[in-house]
Amino acid sequence: MDAIIDTNPHECDGFPTKTTGAWQTHCVKDQKMRYPKKYDFPVHQVRRYLEPGPIVLVTSRLQDKTNVMTLGWHTVLEFSPSLVGLMISSGNHSFRMIRETGECVINLPTTKLTDTVVRIGNTSGADIDKFCEFGLTPDQASVVKPPLIRDCHAGFECRLHDDALVERYNFFIFEVVKAHAAKTPKHPETLHYTGDGVFMVAGKAISRRSLFRPGML
Ligand SMILES: Cc1cc2nc3c(=O)[nH]c(=O)nc-3n(C[C@H](O)[C@H](O)[C@H](O)COP(=O)(O)O)c2cc1C
Repeated sequence: MDAIIDTNPHECDGFPTKTTGAWQTHCVKDQKMRYPKKYDFPVHQVRRYLEPGPIVLVTSRLQDKTNVMTLGWHTVLEFSPSLVGLMISSGNHSFRMIRETGECVINLPTTKLTDTVVRIGNTSGADIDKFCEFGLTPDQASVVKPPLIRDCHAGFECRLHDDALVERYNFFIFEVVKAHAAKTPKHPETLHYTGDGVFMVAGKAISRRSLFRPGML
């Protein structure tokens, strides 16, 4: 069901309190705001709203075998050292390769690679050579053994920083030890997965730089 858009008074006194189907606020300014009415939502589907960081292609290399997987569940954890967490399911061939080597490259594809992103995420490196199958061009990384993908906008070379959450959550914490990125476009059209085979596309930028405290930039 589509959300009904109601109007409510401008909120200025903390978080508003809910009444019967509408929001009540303690302070009414002359300005009226429109807001989305919310409905009960299945907790197991919140990924639809929370998941969308950019989809990435994670490359790995073990002995003479190279692999790539599609990944949407990742998060930045720290600026310096540059730490990033990835959830790599233990059933994936990439899990075994990365667990053993402690290295990967996080590659950032754009909409040009949409179909390839889906195909990579629906096949296993245990069965096929995905670089060959999907016509990807590997570029040698500077520090780690897995390759960058030339077709991608950026590539971040990673070394395992902490595996404390791997056994319990399949969550690997990596340090980005070297980063490569194209200069243009400044805001690439990245893919953001919402589940059910549907992606949102980024690329539009909105600046509110003037509202930030310098330390928060
Ligand atoms: C859009 C999309 C997002 C995905 N996100 C993840 C993810 O965050 N973590 C994960 O373990 N698998 C994820 N997958 C599934 C893997 O990409 C898939 O299991 C892949 O076949 C693993 O390849 P491998 O066996 O060669 O490692 C995703 C797949 C798609 C299509």
